[in-house]
Amino acid sequence: MSIEINEQEKIFILNTKHSTYMIKADDTGCLRHLYYGPSVPDKDLTFLQAGCDRGFSGNPYEKKLDRGYSFDTIPQEYSCHGTGDHRVYAAEAETEEGSRATDLRYESYRAEKGVYEPEGLPHVRPDEDAAQEETLRILMRDAVTDLTAELIYTVFSEKDVIERAVRLTNDSDRTLFLNKAASVCVDHQYGDFDIIHFHGRHCMERQPERLPVPTGVFSVQSGRGISSHHHNPFVIICDHDAGEDHGSCYGYMLMYSGSHKTEIEKDQTGSVRLVTGVNNDEFRWKLTPGETFQTPAVIMTFSDKGLGKLTRKFHRIIRENVIDRKYLNSERPVLLNSWEACYMEFNDEKMLELADGAKDLGIEMVVMDDGWFGDRDSDNSGLGDWFVNLNKIKCGLPELVRKINDKGLRFGIWMEPEMISEDSDLYRAHPEWALTDPDRKPVMARNQLVLDMTREDVREYLFNCISEILSSANIEYVKWDNNRGLDNLYSNALPEDRQGEVSHRYVLGMYDLLGRVTKAFPDVMIEGCCGGGGRFDAGMLFYCPQIWCSDNTDAINRLKIQRGTAYGYPVSAIGSHVSESPNQLTWRHSPLETRAAVAMSGTFGYELDPSRLTEEEKEEIRQEIREYRIYRKVIQSGRYFRLNIGGADPSRFSAERLPSLDFQAWEFVSDDRSEAFVFVAALSVEANAPFQLIRPDGLDPDMTYHIAGTDVTVSGAALMYNGLRLDMMRGDFPIRRIHLIEHL
Ligand code: DGJ
Repeated sequence: MSIEINEQEKIFILNTKHSTYMIKADDTGCLRHLYYGPSVPDKDLTFLQAGCDRGFSGNPYEKKLDRGYSFDTIPQEYSCHGTGDHRVYAAEAETEEGSRATDLRYESYRAEKGVYEPEGLPHVRPDEDAAQEETLRILMRDAVTDLTAELIYTVFSEKDVIERAVRLTNDSDRTLFLNKAASVCVDHQYGDFDIIHFHGRHCMERQPERLPVPTGVFSVQSGRGISSHHHNPFVIICDHDAGEDHGSCYGYMLMYSGSHKTEIEKDQTGSVRLVTGVNNDEFRWKLTPGETFQTPAVIMTFSDKGLGKLTRKFHRIIRENVIDRKYLNSERPVLLNSWEACYMEFNDEKMLELADGAKDLGIEMVVMDDGWFGDRDSDNSGLGDWFVNLNKIKCGLPELVRKINDKGLRFGIWMEPEMISEDSDLYRAHPEWALTDPDRKPVMARNQLVLDMTREDVREYLFNCISEILSSANIEYVKWDNNRGLDNLYSNALPEDRQGEVSHRYVLGMYDLLGRVTKAFPDVMIEGCCGGGGRFDAGMLFYCPQIWCSDNTDAINRLKIQRGTAYGYPVSAIGSHVSESPNQLTWRHSPLETRAAVAMSGTFGYELDPSRLTEEEKEEIRQEIREYRIYRKVIQSGRYFRLNIGGADPSRFSAERLPSLDFQAWEFVSDDRSEAFVFVAALSVEANAPFQLIRPDGLDPDMTYHIAGTDVTVSGAALMYNGLRLDMMRGDFPIRRIHLIEHL
């Protein structure tokens, strides 16, 4: 049973295949966190929490004589502000009189079959056989304000995942204001851990950083209205010695695409509290009597077998239960995107020329990027005017798409629905539709403003424009871009006491529009994008099966970006293209083979003008696409491994650099382990370098494998335990691809 309940003792146990999570409501109604970790048979671990009198950690009134009992030290499930717990907190509600004290205590529970599916927010979808999942709802109440918090836990037992979310309701007859409403609080007791988080910048997203949890508060956050290039809403807490295949690791992934905050506090007792949710810095949510606020959901998983396993658990739940199931086994098209080929300088003839070039190479889809609509010859104008620019697309969109389809190619288009240029007909007609503080000049970014997605009329306008375009021709893919964050957080449509809701309402509005579009056009695949990877999160993946990973297409930089991204997000979701060499951003030269191998380890496409390729390059690309068609299924749906090379565990970031050669190695293994692809990239080479062994992972030790392109057959055991010796790697950024197939 996934959920076990001891009514008498008010103990709740959530069992996944390999983990146990335990909660208890004690005699004051405090909801204690008892345990999260490897499966244990015990049914009550309260004894581990014997109280201890600590100076300056006060006691609730009913325990005034029991000085060892303090909310400041008890591990809790959903901590509150202002009533004795001085650690980072999950919830704070303010009354009309200005009191911010919040004190949620256990009231009741409900357990049911099935999953939690909040209206209008991304969530983990049920398995096909939904009878597997169970949901526990624990109701807490503040006896003074009648704020209630329903803590929701859905257990995906087979997948080792617990999804958590909270519904906060004003059950009183007076108005309350939520100043903070986090999704999750977990107290890891007395732990000595590392944090791994994923920071970055535009064009260099999701770089892992690993550091010991310090005493005090460490936070990972975005206040940009987007999940951001800078700090991803995904963190790992693990043992100091956790590596790829050993050690305890906990992963917390917020399913949210807006401003977020994760706080990790190591307190006076040595406990480590993690609180994650919507960023409260710019948040104040009015709850009128009867109103409910739903927090975004969090995907939590635990691995006691290291970071590799943790990664694969996230990949599985996202591929199978977050991304729309219809994409689970659908092969993503190899596409040619026009952006780095010609930016906004194109017309219908150029698009047809690109299509001819793409067809000749074996590419399957052509995507017309930015520049086809309104008055859009530069990024200073046109956003909002979603009408085909007939000076550029002279034959019209339906005719252009028909001609491209006639060549045997599919067609995709770029849009940036949430934005508006000052120089646009839309802005001239509706300046009030832009988010702007009426008393200030707006902060500009890429010379554009953000549409007020909290407004229904704005969403209606956008839905109609998008529908019109998508119905006008056989469009099978949309790249949904967004090229700036939110700065001017003021909506003309909301009253003054609801301006603190703008940032979150924006995200809800964006989800609403995406939900409507995906429902109305179920055959159109949407690739998310936000100036590259500024909104790469599980919230977007609920609507978009893939996301453009970065505006940086330099293959060597991409090795780092894609590797960091793949810690939490599946490779089938990572938009990745081969572009020109030298790269237009870094001016670096890299071999076509290396660029292809890196792009293949994502959704694979091209972003260049085929007419600028030599005949030799064209032939190489044809061959790569032919090979990718063989690789595609295993890459997009197989298990992903970061590989250990030369004795350096890839999770120990500092130990990763080797004296003579700098490698990065990764692998995809089919579910039945009969096939694997190993990739090894050398970031620098030296003369007369020592031999290096690469040890594939995840194979069947008892199977015999054939190494494609050779006459060698070898056991899975020898491959995994001894490894393969790499031949001497030479030149700039060489790559090796090793294909292992079961030898029957
Ligand atoms: C940012 C995207 O990441 C690029 O790929 C491209 O679509 C441009 N926007 C277009 O403006």
